Amino acid sequence: MSTPPLSSAPPLPAPDHAEQLRDALRAAAFTADGCLDLLGATAYAALSRAETVPALRATRGGSPLESLVRLFLLQRPVPHERLRAALPVDECLADGWLVRDGDELRATVDVRPYAGDGGEDWWIVSDLGCAVGGAGGIGTAPGVDRAELVLGVGGASTTLAGLTVRDPAGSALDLGTGSGVQALHASRHATRVTATDVNARALHFTRLTLALSGVPEADLRQGSLFDPVGEDRYDLIVSNPPFVISPAGRFTYRDGGMRGDDLCRTLVQQSAAHLNDGGYCQLLANWQHTDGEDWRERLAGWVPRGCDAWIVQREVQDVTQYAELWLRDGGDHRDDPERYAARYDAWLDEFEQRKVKGIGFGWITLRKSGSDRPAITAEGMAAPGGAAAGGAHQGLVRPPGLPAHARRRRSAGGALPARRRGGAGAGGPAGRRGPGARGAARQPRDAARHQGRHGRRGLRGRV
Ligand SMILES: C[S@@+](CC[C@H](N)C(=O)[O-])C[C@H]1O[C@@H](n2cnc3c(N)ncnc32)[C@H](O)[C@@H]1O
Repeated sequence: MSTPPLSSAPPLPAPDHAEQLRDALRAAAFTADGCLDLLGATAYAALSRAETVPALRATRGGSPLESLVRLFLLQRPVPHERLRAALPVDECLADGWLVRDGDELRATVDVRPYAGDGGEDWWIVSDLGCAVGGAGGIGTAPGVDRAELVLGVGGASTTLAGLTVRDPAGSALDLGTGSGVQALHASRHATRVTATDVNARALHFTRLTLALSGVPEADLRQGSLFDPVGEDRYDLIVSNPPFVISPAGRFTYRDGGMRGDDLCRTLVQQSAAHLNDGGYCQLLANWQHTDGEDWRERLAGWVPRGCDAWIVQREVQDVTQYAELWLRDGGDHRDDPERYAARYDAWLDEFEQRKVKGIGFGWITLRKSGSDRPAITAEGMAAPGGAAAGGAHQGLVRPPGLPAHARRRRSAGGALPARRRGGAGAGGPAGRRGPGARGAARQPRDAARHQGRHGRRGLRGRV
């Protein structure tokens, strides 16, 4: 039986037969490696640009794997009888993963292979049409309010996964879990994982992702920021929050509902109260560049007492680039031109009112050191108004005293294929993940090499 609706959206699948479904997906090689082998580098790369035609051409044979790629990645109907060779169809229908469409069957959700850090085959479950191309992706989730959409793994998700300290932890919190990717990674090295989200649908998707991937269920709690965890403390807090600085809260996954960069600031400021001594909080963030204010001063002002901080600005965009990036991400560029222009105008109005000249993208690592004289390092990889200097992560100098977290991992970004967001910011601080030759699911990313542990240094780079 599918679960009762958590909102006005159609019911989501139930995880009752997740193990059976997982066995079937694995048997058909519906895994990151298996799909790359089937599609090949070119069709895979096209799919990561939200172009489906090459993948459709590569899946005309009707094998179980081709059927699954068409069903879950391309969101095409597949003949009932053909799908029987790939899936426990009756159970999938009963649980709500599939619906009938005449003699054919359709998927109700996107199920996407994702390679785990230790070579695990995992699967990320998200709304249809949202795993590639953001909310303006290759399709739509029928009946789902666009504000409540739950996206799959994007470049930002994999950047954060790559940055995260993977020391054994007693407890980890994934704040704003979405479809559960950070919780999935945390399940490998944290004894207890808590995942929160303001969107009830996201929590259900996280439950599906974890169940399908065969990892223990997390403690799932609904609510905003730290509200759902009361006074609980964690060894690790990770968050890829809705960091976009926008004129209106249109998409829960993207716009935090607070003005300017207040949501990221609040998250940073409140994190100290929820960290165990020595614990880490790691998040992606966007921040405003305003007239007469050094961004490093602004960010240093966010750091709570008792925490060391390492803040890296990966890129800066001017307000027009930023507005266009997120308009495209939301699919607004395909809208009526007048509505597009009105929306664009609203973004520029918002920035003008707030005296915002540019927006910084980056990541923040806090460590609860308890020190009276916290060490704060804020450094940029880009010049304001310009593109990232020297490429994505090149040239980032790790402050002395912050040993590299240099373990090379196979995936931390092994989703197939990455959701593409337009523009240089590409999903915010993440950068656009390189499209996929087979290696896309296997190559470790540079970000993982720049992780600090014991931040003890003054505010380097401060003017
Ligand atoms: C950019 S998505 C990140 C999803 C996932 N953690 C990842 O890394 O891909 C942000 C998530 O934060 C959730 N969210 C939005 N506002 C929130 C808030 N005030 N408190 C907690 N979560 C929130 C959204 O529903 C969405 O699932």
